[in-house]
Amino acid sequence: MTHYTESAALLERAKKVLAGGVSSEFRKYNHPHAIFYTHGKGSRIYDVDGNEYLDFTLSQGPLLLGHSHPEVLQAIHDYSEQGQLFAGQHHKEIELAEKLAGLIPSADLMRFCLDGSEAVQTAFRVARAKTGKTKFLRFEGHYHGWLDNVAWGLSTPSVEALGDREDPNVYPWSAGLAPNSRDEFIILPWNDLELVRKTVAEHHHELAAIITEPIMCNNGCILPQDGFLQGLRDLCDQYGMALIFDEVITGFRVSLKGAQDYFGITPDLSIFAKAIASGYPISAIVGKRAWMQLIEEAKVIHAGTMNASNPTIAAALATIQVLERDQPYERLYRFGQKLMTGLEQAAAETGQNLRVQGLGPMFHAGFTDQPPATDYRGTLGYNRVKLAKFIAGMHDRGVRVIGRGLWYISAAHTEEDIDHAIKTAREVLGSEELGW
Ligand SMILES: Cc1ncc(COP(=O)(O)O)c(C=O)c1O
Repeated sequence: MTHYTESAALLERAKKVLAGGVSSEFRKYNHPHAIFYTHGKGSRIYDVDGNEYLDFTLSQGPLLLGHSHPEVLQAIHDYSEQGQLFAGQHHKEIELAEKLAGLIPSADLMRFCLDGSEAVQTAFRVARAKTGKTKFLRFEGHYHGWLDNVAWGLSTPSVEALGDREDPNVYPWSAGLAPNSRDEFIILPWNDLELVRKTVAEHHHELAAIITEPIMCNNGCILPQDGFLQGLRDLCDQYGMALIFDEVITGFRVSLKGAQDYFGITPDLSIFAKAIASGYPISAIVGKRAWMQLIEEAKVIHAGTMNASNPTIAAALATIQVLERDQPYERLYRFGQKLMTGLEQAAAETGQNLRVQGLGPMFHAGFTDQPPATDYRGTLGYNRVKLAKFIAGMHDRGVRVIGRGLWYISAAHTEEDIDHAIKTAREVLGSEELGW
């Protein structure tokens, strides 16, 4: 059985100098505690105790090509030799922007940032500046980064605690949030177009934007109901609001053109991050010219010392080049769906109430007897204790999955990897030692 003694010792050492022993809150929630890794290659990652894991976390999504893709690493090395950061422009930055503009339907103009969180805030700034309105409408269970005005309502103990669907309760995710950050948004359950229509009709005079993940990847990996995204598009057109798609997860994962192409709905502004650069810190706010021209004209200020550094741009270009050449999407969907079906069958054979939802390249598996969830409230009935046991059982057998039950597939996963994950899941689901 896997042991974690070296990681445990390093965690104690780290805690003396790194707050909580980690560099991001989410990294605490590994099994059985924060783990220290030595290297990653393809579909595998290795820890300091010598454990090898078949990796379905893919570093919370970015590693669409798997760990340490040689062509990406080579491109980063070669381009970094010419310089790292110029406080100025460089050739490949234009190449990347041209490439993204050619791929993403809403991308007339763009700016590069470092991560999803700050790109989301840039989108809010543009939306406010253009519309002269101040608030944004967002949805329960959607994650748009860790900054103040979106760090509300991210953890809720129960449906009862959320209260009224028309006027939900929200709780701060952190101490120290700016007190008026709560006033910046209206929040609603997702996938309920009638409710959104009613709310927007009442509040449109103060709403600058509607922001949504096009697929609610961060909770339950829930797809939009037919007509929901179109309904949001129509409302934004009717009332002069920006439709913002947060494609931080869906970008490049659903397709190279994003979920906006998959669903055929073009937002005004969208955010791409995670999978666009194989684990290097770059994000993009892209949008229609009518909105992005506010940045062009410096009415809206966007800046950042580290933006568009050579390694990040090279990583993104190389990632796109490999994706365009290898076209792994048919495989990503096929393998993802095979894994989803395999998990469902393993659960049926072992009498477990595992519910699997999603597209394939990413999906969620959690334990519930309730019907498929269509919004965040529907996911709150999932049995989190059982999920934690399942994730721990998988991890102890060398299969690494994100603790909240989200699975990511990469182009490096093979059919044998998928079969191995299904076999391991069947073993875990049927194992008595977990005391189901
Ligand atoms: C949909 C979505 N938006 C925004 C973010 C924030 O991105 P980052 O962690 O790069 O700041 C995340 C991160 O997981 C995300 O999933």
